[in-house]
Formats: sequence, structure tokens, C-alpha cells
Amino acid sequence: VEFQAFPNQIIQWYRQNPRDLPWRGTTDPYLIWLSEIILQQTRVAQGLPYYYAFSQTYPTVKDLALAPESEVLRLWQGLGYYSRARNLHACAKWIWFEQNGVFPQTYDQLLLLKGVGSYTAAAISSFAFGEAKAVVDGNVFRVLARYFGLDSDINSSRTKKEFEALANQLIPKDNPAEFNQAMMDFGSRQCTPKNPSCETCPLVKTCFAHTHGLVNQLPVKINK
Ligand code: ADE
Repeated sequence: VEFQAFPNQIIQWYRQNPRDLPWRGTTDPYLIWLSEIILQQTRVAQGLPYYYAFSQTYPTVKDLALAPESEVLRLWQGLGYYSRARNLHACAKWIWFEQNGVFPQTYDQLLLLKGVGSYTAAAISSFAFGEAKAVVDGNVFRVLARYFGLDSDINSSRTKKEFEALANQLIPKDNPAEFNQAMMDFGSRQCTPKNPSCETCPLVKTCFAHTHGLVNQLPVKINK
């Protein structure tokens, strides 16, 4: 019962609590890719001005491909992890000059881009192309571990595969983008690591961790 209710409840929560983020108004894979690379090691509030600067200076993959690397790196100044900017620029050139300007269209193709891992490929393929691939990161681990009462160590690679399989079963095939956005926001704003807002959570009645008094024990993370 909870298994089927979960995606609906998460999406309902999201419709009541949407964050108005500029990359959510587009299905352009290039702009979504840009936003996801910026957000990889960066908080939303810090990434926003960079997203505005990059999307205005380089509105298309062609504009980015034709820019000098020194200019791209200058615009990246202050964000850190400069390999992200170098990969971004190199990928834009590859797409523009070697792929006829055609952006990768599927999760599997997106994974071929340097700097794009499973999370970023799932985000782009669901947001831009409606592919039912679940984003899975620390936020998603925490939400799933608490709601379903999963107590395996989230630092183990086997657990990661289990959570990925679960998230990919839960994601609605007809609405993957909204589910992924909802999981990102629910994990970062409602089901937070410390002091989660259980008193205002619409999933509280069916949440395993809450009904068993285990909210602060889940997820289980054994130090490496
Ligand atoms: N973190 C990573 N990707 C994100 C996105 N698309 N929206 C909000 N936070 C994110």
C-alpha cells in the first residue's frame, strides 16, 4: 500500500511546496545540463547567479563551444572544482564539432559526457526527455531509508544499488520529472538530516521511521 502511495504523496507535497528555480522552466537539455553541472558540488543559492551568468553568456551549446576556455574559466571563478568548467567546455566542443551540434538524447548517451554520472544523467534525461530514471543521492537515500525503514549501510555499494533499484521502481513512468524534482526538494527541505519537519509532513502516518521512533537512527551510515 505504502509502496504505491509514496510517489503520489511526494508529488502532492511538491505541488504544495515547489521551489521556483530557473532551470525548471525549460526542457532544453543543454540548459538543464548546465544547471546540473553547476549544482554538483554547489548549493542552490550559491549556484543561481552562476546559472544566470552562464545561460545568458552562452544561451546555446554552440555559444559555449565557440567561447575561449579562458573566458569560460573566468566566468566560473568563485565556484571551485574547476574540472567541472573544463569538462563543460570540452563536452560543448565535442557536441558542436563532432556530433553535429546534436545534444545526447538518452540516459545512456548522457553518461558518455565527461563529468556526467548517474545522478546528472538521470536528472537531464528525466527533465528534458521524460525518461523514467530516478535521481539517487544522499537526499534520496535518507528519504527512502526513513519512509521504508531500510537499515542497510548507505556507504556500501550494494546498498546504493538496492536504493537505486527501489527508486527506479517508484518513479512514475508517466511523470518522472516531477517525481525527481519532488525527491530533490523533499529531501533538502522537509526530510532534512537534522530536525526534519515531521510535524508538517503529509507522509508521516505511513513513514516507517516516524511510526517506529527511528527518524534519528535512519539512514544508517557506517563510517568508512
Ligand atoms: N541539486 C541538484 N540538481 C538540482 C535541481 N535540479 N534542483 C534543485 N537542486 C538540485
